[in-house]
Amino acid sequence: MTLKNDRFLRALTRQAVDRTPVWMMRQAGRYLPEYRETRAQAGDFMSLCRNTQLACEVTLQPLRRYALDAAILFSDILTIPDAMGLGLHFVPGEGPHFSHPVRDREAIAKLAKPDVKRDLRYVTDAVSVIRRELNDSVPLIGFSGSPWTLATYMVEGGPSKDFRHIKALMYSDPEALHALLALLADAVTEYLNAQILAGAQAVQIFDTWGGVLTTPAYSAFSLDYMQRIVSGLIREHDGRQVPVILFTKQGGQWLESIADSGCDAVGLDWGIELGNARARIGERVALQGNLDPNVLFGSADTIRQEVARTLESFGQGEGHIFNLGHGISQYTPADNVNIMLNALHELSPRYHL
Ligand code: CP3
Repeated sequence: MTLKNDRFLRALTRQAVDRTPVWMMRQAGRYLPEYRETRAQAGDFMSLCRNTQLACEVTLQPLRRYALDAAILFSDILTIPDAMGLGLHFVPGEGPHFSHPVRDREAIAKLAKPDVKRDLRYVTDAVSVIRRELNDSVPLIGFSGSPWTLATYMVEGGPSKDFRHIKALMYSDPEALHALLALLADAVTEYLNAQILAGAQAVQIFDTWGGVLTTPAYSAFSLDYMQRIVSGLIREHDGRQVPVILFTKQGGQWLESIADSGCDAVGLDWGIELGNARARIGERVALQGNLDPNVLFGSADTIRQEVARTLESFGQGEGHIFNLGHGISQYTPADNVNIMLNALHELSPRYHL
């Protein structure tokens, strides 16, 4: 079967499209009443991720409502540390927590790479079922967290504002942190390759916390490990290229080095102008982004203007995937997404003549 809508994959490899493709980070989630209903049925968030049928159901929910050009696997970046035995749980209103954080060299030395085939089988099973249900309507994106971002949660034990524990480790025992990151890079490579073999047609690495590092630390503790992953990924499957997207939130100042990592596309948050990013790296990679998700709390006119401004900033030509600059907020009025998409579908064809 050939893919009925391959705009997203074409744009990732900077080929011609009729209009700018779009998906949204966290497109399946709490802002949708049907998601909240399915999650209640599953019991809690991790049970939802582990239930193949229900994970498939919530993956498809945003596609039933909206004209999106890609589906993203419903799961979480913290499945890897969970499979390593850290005891993941979600505290309502506080986000993810680990019962057994790893704070020092001894704890890190005791960790082992998860058995992807056994302990993360629920994820690859979900990929297969979602692919079957999508029936080649749109491509499916697989994903993982970056080693640095996974390590922040594993060392901090949960969300953090100052990243005190992981930075203490980085500045007091960098070797131990490197051992943890190397282990995670291996695990992520294996995990993403398993998703690709199960049917993921593109993959994104979420480096949510790379932006809290200094320039040399970003290079040594985050980008270097993402680069290792990119060089170990299966880049062609089922007769088609499998593009890789790197998204470092607040990584705008390091665009050139991110683009040199071997990835096909760079995800951008709203802190940088697309036109500026394109002038710097747009000949080498595709760009994905970057509407401020809070624009979706604005008036219809403002949403339309911001979509128009984003398109104009990238300008004429190929290699742009429209997205939000970070995940959609759980408080977003679901109808405002349609205002954004209608504006995009109306305004973007003229950039692809
Ligand atoms: O994009 C999608 O629709 C796919 C699913 C997806 C989720 N999490 C579902 C989810 C993806 C790609 C993620 C990635 C993820 N998870 C990241 C990287 C992206 C980013 O946002 O920066 C991070 C840092 C996490 C860790 C995590 N998981 C957080 C911070 C939270 C929110 C906790 C909270 O209470 O606000 C989660 C839980 C989570 N992951 C939810 C969803 C839909 C909400 C859980 C719920 O239903 O209560």
